[in-house]
Amino acid sequence: MKIFESLHSRRKFLNSTFGGGLLAFFGAVLTPLTRFCFPGVIGPEPDEVLLPPEKVPQLKPNQGAIFRYGNRPGLMFRTPVGELRAFNATCTHFECTVQYRPEKKCIYCACHEGYFDLDGNVTKGPPPRPLERYDLEWQEDGGILVMKPGVKERKEKEKLAAKGSDLGI
Ligand code: FES
Repeated sequence: MKIFESLHSRRKFLNSTFGGGLLAFFGAVLTPLTRFCFPGVIGPEPDEVLLPPEKVPQLKPNQGAIFRYGNRPGLMFRTPVGELRAFNATCTHFECTVQYRPEKKCIYCACHEGYFDLDGNVTKGPPPRPLERYDLEWQEDGGILVMKPGVKERKEKEKLAAKGSDLGI
């Protein structure tokens, strides 16, 4: 009876381990593939995302973390000298998620060994374009407004235009 129970629990363990592994594997492969084949499925990225204070990654110099930018991953990190930067974490090759590599002080895509420098420029591997860099604006409550390139400038122009119309210019 003990042998039967042991085999039964071992089988259960192996089934759940391999089942979980297969699910993770298909998730890792199918998500980028779906994004690549059907770019509209995940939807357009928002122009900006407000991270409330509790969602702002607490990062020391030379540390990085993934955050949510709409329906896509964003990568936020502090450079070795402590400057906070954020990028679209979707690799420009086949849309895998990149990560910060502290030991090499670079951004890395594990799918096909793509390397980017801390400005998002490709330094090695197959990615055809740099990563999209986001602008950051700290909020009074400790949150961060993360914006796509050009959005900050557009908002400043709109503010100036609104001021001008208030003054009757
Ligand atoms: S998907 Fe990033 S290097 Fe291929």
